[in-house]
Amino acid sequence: MANVSIGINEFRGRRRLIEYAEKDRLRHMYMVGKTGVGKSTIFQNMCLQDIQSGHGVCFIDPHGDSIDWLLEHIPQNRLQDVILFDPSDKDFPFGLNLLEAHDEFEKDFLVNECIQIFYKLFDPEKTGLIGPQFEHWLRNAALTVMAGPEGGSILEIPKLFVDPAFEKTKRSHLTDPLVIDFWTKQMAKTSGFHKSEMLNYFMSKFGPFINSPLMRNIMGHRINSFEFDELMDKKSILLVNLSKGKIGEMNAHMLGLILISRLQAAVMKRADRGASARTPFYLYVDEFQNFITDTFASLLSESRKYGLGMHLANQYLSQLPDTIRDSLFGNVGTLLAFEVGIEDARILAREFAPITERDFIGLPRFNFYIKLMIDGKTSEAFSGITLPPEEISKDSSTKAKVTTLNRLAYGWPRLLVEKSLARQLHS
Ligand SMILES: Nc1ncnc2c1ncn2[C@@H]1O[C@H](COP(=O)(O)OP(=O)(O)OP(=O)(O)O)[C@@H](O)[C@H]1O
Ligand SMILES: [Mg+2]
Repeated sequence: MANVSIGINEFRGRRRLIEYAEKDRLRHMYMVGKTGVGKSTIFQNMCLQDIQSGHGVCFIDPHGDSIDWLLEHIPQNRLQDVILFDPSDKDFPFGLNLLEAHDEFEKDFLVNECIQIFYKLFDPEKTGLIGPQFEHWLRNAALTVMAGPEGGSILEIPKLFVDPAFEKTKRSHLTDPLVIDFWTKQMAKTSGFHKSEMLNYFMSKFGPFINSPLMRNIMGHRINSFEFDELMDKKSILLVNLSKGKIGEMNAHMLGLILISRLQAAVMKRADRGASARTPFYLYVDEFQNFITDTFASLLSESRKYGLGMHLANQYLSQLPDTIRDSLFGNVGTLLAFEVGIEDARILAREFAPITERDFIGLPRFNFYIKLMIDGKTSEAFSGITLPPEEISKDSSTKAKVTTLNRLAYGWPRLLVEKSLARQLHS
């Protein structure tokens, strides 16, 4: 089994590589540190080593630089495994439908995620902006658009409330008695005024995605361009460019949230398989706090049975909700910390003792402390220095090659998408 190198440790004048063993990686890694200290570089170097060793990986990059770097360094023999999801490629949009489900487990899980995503985007502090009423309507509406052989996307939800023919067709496919009751008992009694109030509410949330051609062409698709279970089994290389500068912050968060939810659904189904049938898969997510919902904590705690090794990074511990922070410290096998501010140094000093607050505050860039999982146990903290970005021959033509191949394999020509969406979304 191939190890990956994280950095270099110097002790009493001896330098040795800090190596992370494959079997320990399924317990995950979390990394924190101020801007410019070398976090993305560590992930890039590790991910490239995974690619060179033939593993399957997914890299979610909120800036785009790491993806560009990886593309320049991918060995030729792995080019056919690359799926480059760049939502800013307007001419050949990929399909990313949160609500495409293949079985009952996925259906339940994804509808719950849909609700969680709306909390995360529109009411993260749960102040009551999104309440039980919206949840109830959203759950039933989502289950209704998903009904029938063609399925549906979340962007079709508002149409349910304005297009009686669409509502009728969708309802004819329903089998779940609770959803049937929602329409026949509750909705039948709801006044027109109340309905339009609810529609306005839905439109205020879905509207920005329906009205943005870029997002509509991606999220309106009923069929996903790729499926995580297949991609993990085939050891594909999924590179996701969520550059906020190109697609906008809200859109980047929405797409990241959908991706992680779909990944989670696929990963959780792997628990039923024998360990040997779970091909290891490695996920790298920078600024991960933007792309996870509350259910993510459970993925961290019951990790090994899924065959997924996660690598999560962000700049501030204080950006993380308490549940996620507790789950990280309680469950993640490998912790790595660079220079941080005072508040974070205080928290880290507790986890990394005998390293002190002051040690973290004064760390030069590219230097870190690590608690590494070794043979199933987390080590005492020790120090390390990052490896510089790997200096191997680079090929700047790879991105263009990959883009051409991917447009054919996973994208749809924009005009075609727009034509079919015009029929699908409008009454
Ligand atoms: N060991 C190293 N030696 C020399 N240069 C390095 C080393 N590690 C990283 N760098 C360079 O330092 C710069 C900052 O690194 P990087 O982008 O990885 O930081 P970061 O922690 O991800 O920052 P941000 O939080 O802003 O994304 C980059 O230009 C990178 O190439
Ligand atoms: Mg970075």
